[in-house]
This record gives sequence, C-alpha cells and structure tokens, in this order.
Amino acid sequence: MSEPALVALREASFSYEDGPPVLSGLDFEVRRGRTLALLGRNGSGKTTLMRLLSGGLRPDTGELTLRGRPVAYDRKGLTRLRTTVQLVVQDPDDQLFAASVAQDVSFGPLNLGLPDAEVRARVDEALTALDIGHLADRPTHLLSYGQRKRTAIAGAVAMRPEVLVLDEPTAGLDPDGRERLLTTLGGLCEGGTTVVMATHDVDLALLWADDAALLTPDGVSTGPAAAMLARTDLLHRAGLRLPWGVVVERLLRARGLLAAGDDGPRTPEELAALARTVPPPPGPARTADTPRD
Ligand SMILES: Nc1ncnc2c1ncn2[C@@H]1O[C@H](COP(=O)(O)OP(=O)(O)O)[C@@H](O)[C@H]1O
Ligand SMILES: [Mg+2]
Repeated sequence: MSEPALVALREASFSYEDGPPVLSGLDFEVRRGRTLALLGRNGSGKTTLMRLLSGGLRPDTGELTLRGRPVAYDRKGLTRLRTTVQLVVQDPDDQLFAASVAQDVSFGPLNLGLPDAEVRARVDEALTALDIGHLADRPTHLLSYGQRKRTAIAGAVAMRPEVLVLDEPTAGLDPDGRERLLTTLGGLCEGGTTVVMATHDVDLALLWADDAALLTPDGVSTGPAAAMLARTDLLHRAGLRLPWGVVVERLLRARGLLAAGDDGPRTPEELAALARTVPPPPGPARTADTPRD
C-alpha cells in the first residue's frame, strides 16, 4: 500500500458563521516530496482551505488526517499537527509581532518548550535558510515588505515542519524578490520539506509546482501541474486562464518548432534561448529598407 498522505482533508465542509458554505465535501491531500500549488480565483476558498489544513479552522463535517489518522483538536493533537504542518499567512504583518527578527523566529520553538541551545540552533538554521541571518537583530517594523515576508517564513521553518503551507507567498514581491523567494523555497524542498502554495498565478504554478489543485465551485481537482494547467474547461470554471507557457507551447508545436518529447519554455528566458536555435523562416532576404520592427 502507498504511504498515507502527510496531511489530508476528507469530505470536509466549512462555512463561516452565518455564511454560505465555502467548501463542501472537499478531498485534498498533501503527499510527501511533491510541491503543490492550490489555485483558484479570489474568494474561492484557498485561504480557508489552508487554515483547515493547518488546524486554525476546524471542518464542520468531514475530517483532517495526519499520516492517515484523524487529528484530535485538543492541545496534544494540535501540537502534533503544528510540528508537522506550518502555515505562513499572506500578510506578514498578521504574523510578526516580536521586537526583533530573531525574537520573532524563536517564538514557535520557545513555545514548544525546547532547551535554549536547541532554540538558538533552530533560529540560526531558519535565518540562514531564508538568507536573513544579517537581519537577526533588526526591529521587525524597520524591515522591507520582502524582508518581513522572509521573516514570517523563517518563523515557520524554525518549527522544522514536514509541510510548509504558504498563502500567496509571492503577492506583493517585485520580480527579483519573487525569483529569490522561489529559489529559497527550492532549497527548502531539497532539504526535505514539502511545500504547498496557494496562488492565483497560473504561470507561477506551472513553473514551480509538481502538482496543481484547482478550486472550482464544484470542488477541487488535483493532478500533475502541466496536465492540470492545460485543461481549459477546468481553468475556466476556476475563473483562471491558461498559463502563458501552455499557450506558447501549443503555438510552437503547431508550427513544428518543438520536438515531440520536449517541454515548452516556462519563462521568457527559456523562450528566448529556444528562439536562438530556430532558423529564420524562408522568404525574401532582408534589404536595407526592410523595416526592422
Ligand atoms: N473570516 C471570515 N468570515 C466570513 N467570511 C469569510 C471569512 N474569511 C473568508 N470569508 C469568505 O469565504 C470565502 C472564501 O474566502 P477565502 O478563503 O479568503 O478565499 P481566497 O483565499 O481564495 O481568496 C469568501 O466568500 C470570503 O468572503
Ligand atoms: Mg486568500
């Protein structure tokens, strides 16, 4: 039998007080070592699902399981859940509260009652993983948005979770900040952490995730990212568009510019590299008065 999902929601339904159902009869699972992007339009329930997965909310019906066993919503059960699954909320200002970066990152491990030396080791490790060791003593209110985001993620990493759940981690970052964060997350994955990310960015999901889960009003559909993100019907129902990379790949194949077994380009840089290998189309030779652009 295959290993049970690290964490899973089974037939889970949830409504906020006095509100309509946000999620109904939902099945969602996180498998060890598979990066997973949870996609859906604004208001589709991504944040709600992530809070259910990390124990901040409790399903009205259905259950949350940890390695195949139902989670108990008591102190012991929730501690076990939180040492396995850590959520980083979208807005770092909802997460950070201590005076300095190191103090903030040490909060979780201190709360577990770990010895000081162990807390220090975890804080150092998390700051290094997020590349913010030089900010350890900096007051959190003096950090840039990107630095606050990294500090919030470091706080979760210091708990040494098996599953790191990130709600829209690239929102609000500039392209360079986004790129650097994805590199950092790649490093965490290589170190054995399973990363789940909520996003409405289909291009990011195609670039980054092994699997994609699409939230539609009918429920959630999960599968390999490249296949899921080429399903026009499903994307449409999720209120999303085809990723740029899928559109380009189709065009290149239709024009015979991509070999059968090759993946399409996933970034403008990969497209530019491919373009350099493509011979110019036959046609009249350029002359001095051919318009250049
Ligand atoms: N604290 C809350 N109280 C009441 N309704 C909420 C709350 N948070 C979210 N909702 C509602 O639940 C639905 C799903 O929201 P959310 O999970 O935040 O979606 P997403 O993260 O995909 O944008 C939306 O209709 C939203 O208005
Ligand atoms: Mg959200």
